[in-house]
Amino acid sequence: MERTRSRQLFDRASGVMPGGVNSPVRAFRSVGGTPVFIDRAEGATFSDVDGNDYVDFCLSWGPLILGHSHPAVVEAVREAAGRGLSYGACHATEADLAGRVLEAFPSMEQARMVSSGTEAVMTALRIARGATGRSTILKFEGGYHGHSDALLVKAGSGLATFGTSSSLGVPEGFARDTLVLPFDDVEVLEDAFERRGKDLACVIVEPLPGNNGLLEQRTEWLERLRALTREHGTLLVFDEVISGFRLHYGGYGARVGIEPDLVTLGKIIGGGMPVGAVAGPRRLMKLLSPEGGVYQAGTLSGNPVAMAAGLATLDVLRGGGVYERLEALGRTFDDAMDEHAQGRPWLRARRIGSLIWFHLDECEVPRRADAVSGRAIERFNAAYHALLDRGLYLPPSGYEVVLLCAAHTDEQVRTLVAEVARQAEGVG
Ligand SMILES: Cc1ncc(COP(=O)(O)O)c(C=O)c1O
Repeated sequence: MERTRSRQLFDRASGVMPGGVNSPVRAFRSVGGTPVFIDRAEGATFSDVDGNDYVDFCLSWGPLILGHSHPAVVEAVREAAGRGLSYGACHATEADLAGRVLEAFPSMEQARMVSSGTEAVMTALRIARGATGRSTILKFEGGYHGHSDALLVKAGSGLATFGTSSSLGVPEGFARDTLVLPFDDVEVLEDAFERRGKDLACVIVEPLPGNNGLLEQRTEWLERLRALTREHGTLLVFDEVISGFRLHYGGYGARVGIEPDLVTLGKIIGGGMPVGAVAGPRRLMKLLSPEGGVYQAGTLSGNPVAMAAGLATLDVLRGGGVYERLEALGRTFDDAMDEHAQGRPWLRARRIGSLIWFHLDECEVPRRADAVSGRAIERFNAAYHALLDRGLYLPPSGYEVVLLCAAHTDEQVRTLVAEVARQAEGVG
């Protein structure tokens, strides 16, 4: 495939934007080469500026569960834009979307709409600290919760010690308030709560971790986490920015029967527009300004066009059929994997609904970040450009999840598996 125009545009972008991008993973550093510049997208496909077509398995990293440019969503956006792009004042669609989100999270009574997952999580932490009067938070190695200071932290030298910042520009003071533990280890969790439980304002966790591969946790681990947080007066925040509305009309918490104290959302609830939300019971949400003393605000929060896109997306999802279709595509994926795994013991993946993580090594697909196989990542990254040249656009890193949307066809899913099997053979 010829991608001359993409290369030219990337050169230009690199002159005026750091790394040529507005979000680092788009720069293709893990897989090498230069990024594809997209011209237009529809359904499960997009075309680049050189006229090449791709089946999109990245889907804007999660929001596009219906595929690109779903007619109902585009129509809602057009209609809203025709009435003004932003008011910075109250309008009806804000409460429509908040109400629609809350319907799907029965233990949550109020939501604040923001413009990104990062903001939603940042706000949840502030509520938790405001509610408990404690400053320490706990997160897990391999979880990603956006780029706020308190969360750009990695594990320190010993377990149950404070973390160290994982980004320049994050003062160690912030990192000292963040504890980082590995996933999938009940003993380490219990030990940390015994030593530090009374200091912990909240635990922030993706109940279905999807940012360092798909590190599905055992339900017993999540249940223990819920019990320990209750015992110690620590709030449990489920970061469902990826998992919210992804597997069913609601959160992953409901799927495993665990109720958090606060939920953070993003991606799907904006249908491709910049939207995030934090939701919780009234007793916690009333702490937010102007009712309470926890400050939070946003010029574009509750933006009418973004709210309309989110609402239209949730309307389609609520209308039925989408999750069944996604599961059917998932089964097609499983069957194709079985077929192509013959003679390829390294062809492995974890699939949960429409989330798929290829872990291309013979070992069991891991549940914690330090168990991810370097060889699996190398294999994926080495095969990436061959897949691209066959018109398959996957997230440009072996640590990222591949996504299915309602617009994919069974044939596209079968091609994905066949090409990964073929192209990853003998590389990495
Ligand atoms: C679980 C999770 N939380 C928070 C975020 C941050 O969201 P945003 O990129 O919208 O700021 C992400 C982004 O990928 C995420 O996956």
